[in-house]
Amino acid sequence: MAGNKHIGLGTAAIGRPLYINVRQNTDEKPFSLPKFKENGLQVLEDAYSNGIRFFDTSPGYGLAEQLLIDWLKKKGDPDIIVSTKWGYTYVANFDPNAIEHEVKEHSIEKLNNQWKFSKMLLPHLKVYQIHSATLDTGVLENKEVLSRLHEIKKVHNITIGLTTTGNNQTEILEKGLSIEVENEKLFQSFQCTFNILDQSVFKYANKLQNISGPFIIKEALANGRLIPNNRYSNYFLLYDFLMKLADQYKVGTDAVAMRYCIDKFQNAKVLSGADNCVHLRANLLANQFSLTQDELEKLDSFRIESTEYWLERKSLQWN
Ligand SMILES: NC(=O)c1ccc[n+]([C@@H]2O[C@H](COP(=O)([O-])OP(=O)(O)OC[C@H]3O[C@@H](n4cnc5c(N)ncnc54)[C@H](OP(=O)(O)O)[C@@H]3O)[C@@H](O)[C@H]2O)c1
Repeated sequence: MAGNKHIGLGTAAIGRPLYINVRQNTDEKPFSLPKFKENGLQVLEDAYSNGIRFFDTSPGYGLAEQLLIDWLKKKGDPDIIVSTKWGYTYVANFDPNAIEHEVKEHSIEKLNNQWKFSKMLLPHLKVYQIHSATLDTGVLENKEVLSRLHEIKKVHNITIGLTTTGNNQTEILEKGLSIEVENEKLFQSFQCTFNILDQSVFKYANKLQNISGPFIIKEALANGRLIPNNRYSNYFLLYDFLMKLADQYKVGTDAVAMRYCIDKFQNAKVLSGADNCVHLRANLLANQFSLTQDELEKLDSFRIESTEYWLERKSLQWN
């Protein structure tokens, strides 16, 4: 299948055994690292054979970067594009009972240290992002970090970006869009949470059309909360409408929720976070239809406040 313009694969769930989500069928089998790797490679292959050429990863996603590096070498396709990040270190050692999964550190030492490994993704690596930039770590004021990112951009000809998480995504976006190093805007790619429930970044749609790198949408399914689910009676009216659309377009509600993102931001890369080929193929059905303006407006009306959205997300488990 030829290129897949709208959908990329996020590799968080294929790089570490636990991830934040609303898992409805938990797997009781004992964890096996070789099987986990084998499944990850299968998902990469399946994504590729279904036309996906954009892959998002991070050192915080366990073995995901290494898996991609090995797979890219074998694949040898120059059309594959990768974005990775720096700032989180995976610390759970694939222990499904681990209490701590990742440690955040936005220092120049962490940047230099993680870059040494991540640069093995070159020449596929085209976007290098600060992982969950926040105001409290001071990373967006750290001159040493900003000029090192500028240097990486110049030497390797890649786009510098940042990802946002939490109820102040718009504040980080605003700040990120304004930062200049040597009279050039430093951040030309942004990865944000956008979905039917949290539409806060939509007000930046026009500004995001002018950046030279990709606008990447993560958590299009609200970590699984947009898959009809008895735990969230507050979304039953939304679930009814999603199921009606799913029925009408002969796809799953996951594809409808992803299509919403594609239709709202037509130039974005929307990430599928699937950890298996069945979910991945279901997500990709989002490519096969478009939502009408009326349907989009009705879906718009289900937005909730950012603070409420992120409070609910905090209560999700790693599973
Ligand atoms: N701060 C950051 O930079 C940041 C933060 C979060 C995410 N990300 C990036 O965004 C990517 C996507 O994020 P995400 O996975 O958290 O978001 P998501 O797409 O909102 O949620 C994925 C969840 O939906 C489930 N799902 C997908 N298709 C399904 C189907 N057909 N039926 C039932 N369940 C289905 C998945 O289950 P399965 O796992 O079982 O398929 C998973 O639990 C990540 O891989 C990562 O690359 C970046």
